[in-house]
Amino acid sequence: MKQIGIGLAGFGTVGAGVFKHLAQNRDLLSQRLGLGLAVCRIAVRDPKKTRDVKAPAELFTARWQDVVDDPQVQIVVELMGGIEEARELIVRAIGAGKIVVTGNKALLAEHGKELFDLATAKQVPIFFEAAVAGGIPIIKAVRESFIGNHIKSIHGIINGTTNYILTRMTEAGLDYAAALAEAQAQGYAEADPTLDVNGWDAAHKAIILASLAYGTWISPSKVFVEGIEKVTARDIGFAKMLGCRIKLLGIIKADDRGAIEVRVHPTLIPEKHVLASVNGVFNALCVHGDVVGETLFYGRGAGQDPTASAVIADLAEAAHALDSKRRDFGFMPHGLYGDCKPLDEILCQYYLRIPVDDKPGVLAQVAGVLGELNIGISSMIQPESDGQSAELILMLHDATHAQVREAIARITALPAVEGAPTLLRVEHFTP
Ligand code: NAP
Ligand code: HSE
Repeated sequence: MKQIGIGLAGFGTVGAGVFKHLAQNRDLLSQRLGLGLAVCRIAVRDPKKTRDVKAPAELFTARWQDVVDDPQVQIVVELMGGIEEARELIVRAIGAGKIVVTGNKALLAEHGKELFDLATAKQVPIFFEAAVAGGIPIIKAVRESFIGNHIKSIHGIINGTTNYILTRMTEAGLDYAAALAEAQAQGYAEADPTLDVNGWDAAHKAIILASLAYGTWISPSKVFVEGIEKVTARDIGFAKMLGCRIKLLGIIKADDRGAIEVRVHPTLIPEKHVLASVNGVFNALCVHGDVVGETLFYGRGAGQDPTASAVIADLAEAAHALDSKRRDFGFMPHGLYGDCKPLDEILCQYYLRIPVDDKPGVLAQVAGVLGELNIGISSMIQPESDGQSAELILMLHDATHAQVREAIARITALPAVEGAPTLLRVEHFTP
C-alpha cells in the first residue's frame, strides 16, 4: 500500500496524541483511505525527554527544519504552538510545496491572510480543523458543509477552561479564584491561563470562524473582547433570578448590509437556550445559515484525544489532496461582505448592577440618566437592602456600546452611587 510521509513538528499534548491514534487506528485508516499515514520525522525542543507516548528514538530531532526538509515528508503537521517559529515553519513548508496541517489558532488569527495568500499562490493547502473547538468538526462544517449558505450568525462556547470555571461558580457557588484554582488542579487550565480567562483564546477562534464565514480576514483590533475575570458569584446569582446563565460566548454576525461584528464576552443567556446547559469543559456552537437554518455542534473543545481526532481528519484530507486538483487551499476569500462594524456602533442588551445609597429618589436619578440617553429598562430587581446601601439590577433594552459607556460615566458620577457599576451583555438569540 502507498505510504504518505508525515512530519510532526511538536510531540506535546496534541502531537503525541496524533502519533498514538495513528498507530492505534492504523488498519481502519488504511482501509478507509486506501493508503498508509506514516510518521517519518518528529521535531521537539528536547529529544531526550522521557515521554508517555513512545516513538522510535531515531525519528526525533531538535530542529523543526529537519522535518520540513526531509524528502520523505509530504505533509507537515505544525503542533509546536507560539507564533514566530510556527509561522516560519509554515512558510518554509509551503515554499517547498508541502501540505500543512496546524492547530495553531493564535497564529492563524494573527497571520491568516498572509499564510493563506501564500498557500493560494503556491497552490498548497493548509488544513486547520484542530484550531477551533478541538474535536468538533466546525471548520469543515462552516467551510464545506455550509458552502451554499450565507452565515447569519454563529454563537459559540469555544473555550473549555472558562466554561468549566463559570459552571463551577454557577453550580457549586465557588468564587472566581477558587474555580480557577480547581480548573488548574484538574489540568484543564494552563499553568498560565491568561489567554483563556481574558477571552483572547476564544477571540482567536472567533476570528478564524468569522473569517471563514465572511470570506475576509478579520483584524484582531476590530473584535470586542472581554474576559471572565470580573464575573462574580453575586452576578451569577442575580442572573439566575432573571432566568439566565452566564457564559463566555463568541458571537459572530453579519447584518443585512453585510457589516460584520465579532465579539467575545461573558454573556447572560436565557436558561432555556440550549447553550445554557453546555457545562464543564464542553464546547458548543449554534450556526445559523440562510439555507440550512439553525444547527448545533457539541463536544470536547480541547485535550489530547479530541484534538488528535481533528488533526487526523485533516491528515486524511491532506493525503487525498496530494493527488487532486483543488480550488480551495483552506480559505476561500470573496468580497460579498463589508468591514467590521466600529465597536462603538455594536448594538446589544445589557445587565447593569449599581451599588447605591438606600435613599429616596436614587432609582429615579439612575432612570433619568438612562432616559436622557434614550436607553430603555426592560426589567429590574432590587434585593432587600440593609437600610444604608442597596443594589439596583437593571436589564436594558438595545443600546450601542457608545451609549452605554456614556450612561455608565454619568451614573458613576451621581453622588448616591457608591462604586463602579457592573456591566454585562445579554443575548436573546433573535435572528
Ligand atoms: P505542548 O503540549 O506545549 O507541545 C508543544 C510541542 O512542541 C512539544 O513537543 C515541544 O517540545 C515542541 N516544540 C515547541 N517549540 C518547539 C521548537 N521551537 N522546535 C521544536 N519543537 C518545539 O502544546 P499542545 O497543547 O500540544 O498544543 C500544540 C498546538 O495545538 C498549539 O498551537 C495549541 O494552541 C493547539 N491546540 C492545542 C489543544 C490542546 O488541547 N492542547 C487544542 C487545540 C489546539 P518538547 O516536548 O520537547 O517540549
Ligand atoms: N485552552 C483552550 C480551552 C484549549 O480551554 O478551550 C485549546 O483551545
